Amino acid sequence: MKPVEIKKGIYWVGAVDWNTIDFHGYSLARYGTTYNAYLVIDKKITLFDTVKEPFADELLDCIAQIVDPCKIDYIVVNHLEPDHAGALPKIFGTCQPQKVFCSPMGEKSLKAHFHTKDWPLEVKKHGETLSLGKRNVQFLETRMLHWPDSMFSYIPEEKMLISSDAFGQNIASSERFVDELDKNFVKRRLTEYYANIVTPFSPVVEKTLGMVTEQELDIEYICPDHGLIYRHKDDVNFALCNYAEFASQPYRPRAVLVYSTMWHSTEKMGKAIADGLMEEGISVRIMDMASYHHSDVMTEVFLAGAVVFGSSTHNNNILPQMADLLTYIKGLKPQNKVAGTFGSFGWSGECVKALNSWVETMGFELVEGSPRIKHVPDSQALVQCVEYGRNIGKVLKTKLG
Ligand code: FEO
Repeated sequence: MKPVEIKKGIYWVGAVDWNTIDFHGYSLARYGTTYNAYLVIDKKITLFDTVKEPFADELLDCIAQIVDPCKIDYIVVNHLEPDHAGALPKIFGTCQPQKVFCSPMGEKSLKAHFHTKDWPLEVKKHGETLSLGKRNVQFLETRMLHWPDSMFSYIPEEKMLISSDAFGQNIASSERFVDELDKNFVKRRLTEYYANIVTPFSPVVEKTLGMVTEQELDIEYICPDHGLIYRHKDDVNFALCNYAEFASQPYRPRAVLVYSTMWHSTEKMGKAIADGLMEEGISVRIMDMASYHHSDVMTEVFLAGAVVFGSSTHNNNILPQMADLLTYIKGLKPQNKVAGTFGSFGWSGECVKALNSWVETMGFELVEGSPRIKHVPDSQALVQCVEYGRNIGKVLKTKLG
């Protein structure tokens, strides 16, 4: 691809991965993604981050349209996950940059990832700076946003924050800037990314946003490592405000009801519970795990104040797709959820007990009275389910104030 000049002498030189759907083996990127790298032409020619290994040649070709890649003096590794550092071996196989800058944790992890002793690594701690010539870089460690090595690079002369994975969105497009696409589309992709990758690190997000305010960083550009670049104050505020809201994880007036069903009894129960929620004025999204990926469900869970899990009993437990979902959600540690559970069974009926145990370990507030129905729910059982849905809705409304 052609490089895109963001500001005079600063270029996007990354790669667009149009056809990826599987994002890192655990989440779906239904609109593809990008691996963003940024090249600054100054006294010291500096590359911020690289791309996933299969795109290394694209990166080098893109850079070559501006400058011979072997003229790169410095590489800054804000984050060493292979979608951003995967091209380093190729670069070092071709050229010999003078220095590779990384965080203290980055140094340890780069050695463990790439098993190289001859890269000229130099550690930059939080707050340390680097002169590129006319411009300076200030390094801001953002440990666990979202890996231990993660850091931001801030270029004050350009009012530019290169933010690694933070503020990223999985969008493959010919456009490079947020203001070139529909804002609602961007927001949904930003939300999906946060829900499935950043959620457990929400306290770090809050701390990082506090640091940005405390240090009075003047930001006109946020350049993330995935998706579109935020330019102009409005779009920078869009990114910062959304992250502040995401990190606070407020109760929201929505519910997601998700189930795994064997012979549709659990499904019937779920639809009746959803009716009860709707009767209380709660917007509901119903999702059958046979039709949705766990990352799609997680986005809805993130956006919901109430989460209702249903499963048929299977081998004294729950169905495997529900177990997959619960494992995934638990790891992401979403906060502030009212929860409900339900399920049908044929003879032993452990589904509700198992689901309740998951809900407890996730720290959700369980609404008591989970319907547990033998075989097929009759009209009386469905009335019980509607009533349970209403109870969940009432509890959620108390949280909303
Ligand atoms: Fe986009 Fe954490 O790598």
